[in-house]
Amino acid sequence: MDYVLHASLPSSLVSLSLLFFLFFIIITTTTTTSSSSFHAAAAAATTVFNSTTLTFGEAYSPLFSKFNIQRSRDDKTVGLLLNRFSGSGFISSDYYNYGFFSASIKMPSEHTAGIVVAFYTSNVDTFEKNHDELDIEFLGNVKGKPWRFQTNMYGNGSVSRGREERYRMWFDPTKDSHRYSILWTPKNIIFYVDEIPIREVVCNAAMRGDYPSKPMSLYATIWDASSWATDGGKEKVDYKYEPFIAEFKDLVLDGCIVDPTEQILSSNCTDMITGLMARGYSTISPEGRKSMKWFREKYMYYSYCYDNVRYPVPPPECVIVPSERELFMNSGRLRTKMKFHGSHRSRGHGRRGKTNRRRSKEAVIM
Ligand SMILES: *[C@@H]1O[C@H](CO)[C@@H](O)[C@H](O)[C@H]1NC(C)=O
Ligand SMILES: *[C@@H]1O[C@H](CO)[C@@H](O)[C@H](O)[C@H]1NC(C)=O
Ligand SMILES: *[C@@H]1O[C@H](CO)[C@@H](O)[C@H](O)[C@H]1NC(C)=O
Repeated sequence: MDYVLHASLPSSLVSLSLLFFLFFIIITTTTTTSSSSFHAAAAAATTVFNSTTLTFGEAYSPLFSKFNIQRSRDDKTVGLLLNRFSGSGFISSDYYNYGFFSASIKMPSEHTAGIVVAFYTSNVDTFEKNHDELDIEFLGNVKGKPWRFQTNMYGNGSVSRGREERYRMWFDPTKDSHRYSILWTPKNIIFYVDEIPIREVVCNAAMRGDYPSKPMSLYATIWDASSWATDGGKEKVDYKYEPFIAEFKDLVLDGCIVDPTEQILSSNCTDMITGLMARGYSTISPEGRKSMKWFREKYMYYSYCYDNVRYPVPPPECVIVPSERELFMNSGRLRTKMKFHGSHRSRGHGRRGKTNRRRSKEAVIM
């Protein structure tokens, strides 16, 4: 049975409208955007992610610690638990050659220092030495301090060239579900938080293999990263507050299913990929660009593109935006310190593929 995403929208319509209302205030106080474009943006948001959601059983399998995976009666909501015994994770049952991967996620609340919730695509199991990966990773925090998150990408085993960006959120991710999405086409990659595109990577020839191109699976995990996640490892997971539950619902997998060992792209993917690239969410509208600019200038606190210590020459896909550039020092960190706790140390070096999926992800992250 198929459910279209917009059918589930009314429940989140209130928060969505609130968000746009806030937006409207922000935009109208900084610039003079007319209310008609506000309505256009609001209307676009309800149709932009018009994708079919799949139940857990239709498209996913447990990745590890099945006993810590809770499925709702209708199989459309999955709780991933972390307790003193284990974290947990699930994986798409298939590999996709390009696609749109999306979930509405609610983070565990209270004291979540040391916890990482990850939503990502990877093929490290099939291509240990030259894997591809697109990450959204959420980092918990001590009670009262906000969650943070980061995005990253690897292509063809480019593990020595991390492409991290780190951000704060404009909402409390533990209060309500918010939609997090990864679009991946041969042309571009877009990370979304709700309807806001927060990062785009446009493929160019100079990137060579660093642009992900081999079939990937979708992963979702929660685990104990006490050694680094919060305040550089000073704040550990406190199991007094267990279990920690990350709730995933209305899961979207929209892409071409392939056998990852096939060398040649199955021809049935051509139409799928063309269709994917024609979707509303595969191109950022002028309204979307405005939202992206707002988000990045207000909530991004590290970007590898501005880290000239690490990359004296920014990697080829970096688009240097003058208004962003002036916010950052040569270390890629903000000139003005944002007030919140968290580890700013860079990671992503010396990663090694391992055979066990969970282990490999831990190795990948550390
Ligand atoms: C949403 O998708 C369905 C099925 O793909 C389509 O029939 C419908 O017209 C779409 N609605 C909008 C508003 O794009
Ligand atoms: C990807 O990596 C493999 C193995 O290291 C190499 O043979 C191949 O040329 C690389 N592909 C690209 C596009 O760089
Ligand atoms: C493409 O082909 C594969 C293998 O033949 C099949 O499993 C898959 O469902 C097909 N995908 C689409 C979108 O038709």
